[in-house]
Amino acid sequence: MIKKMIAANWKMNLLKSDAKLLANSLIENFGSDYSAVDVVLAPPFTLLDAVGNLIKGSNIKLCAQNMYPEESGAFTGEISPLMLKDLNCTWVIIGHSERRQIIGETDELVSKKVKLALKCDLKIILCVGETLEQREKGVQNQIIENQVEIALKDVNNDMLKNIVIAYEPVWAIGTGKNATPNEIVEVHTMIKELLSMKFRENDDNIRVLYGGSVKPENIDEIISSNNVDGALVGGASLKADSFSKIVKAAGE
Ligand code: 13P
Repeated sequence: MIKKMIAANWKMNLLKSDAKLLANSLIENFGSDYSAVDVVLAPPFTLLDAVGNLIKGSNIKLCAQNMYPEESGAFTGEISPLMLKDLNCTWVIIGHSERRQIIGETDELVSKKVKLALKCDLKIILCVGETLEQREKGVQNQIIENQVEIALKDVNNDMLKNIVIAYEPVWAIGTGKNATPNEIVEVHTMIKELLSMKFRENDDNIRVLYGGSVKPENIDEIISSNNVDGALVGGASLKADSFSKIVKAAGE
């Protein structure tokens, strides 16, 4: 069985003092003896150093929310994967729907980021998911398949172990509406079948997380669904209490 992973996406939230309090509470709960679940924190860039220093040597891993697909150069305001490695990031989120929808990131840009992140030895949480309009048209599987195919076009079998896919239906993010277990299982199964065919990989080596209004009240149902290997949590990851409940539920 694959070890479950729970990742906290803090998005553009928290200032240093609150972030340190939150990280310290999570270290108390999951920092040393806890190994039932892989716990990952994705603070905004401004907090990577502070949070990274606190969790150093613990079981909790550091993740960035984004990166630019160049190692260095004249890209004002951007952050390179080497800078993330320099701050001890293990993971980077690529292709989050907020970046696709609000910032206008294309599948091609996502694919470039994936390629460079892997070259720089970062593990990737690759986000995919359909909009409400696409789900209402019933084209979610095609949309997601396309997102996965383009994002992973330069990825080979060896690299796949460093990639986790997060299925985040856009209509379920920050809306309080989560997808039903059946909807989640259908997409997760489709993603696993696609990857196992493409990479001739055993399903058991492919992790697919769910994201979208995950909270303590619905984690049990989500995490016990077939082919759900963890969760990417936004709003409920901003409080130690709710995030800890989610991690513990995933570890049971
Ligand atoms: P919410 O949990 O706030 O819906 O956010 C989900 C998400 O986008 C995680 O990346």
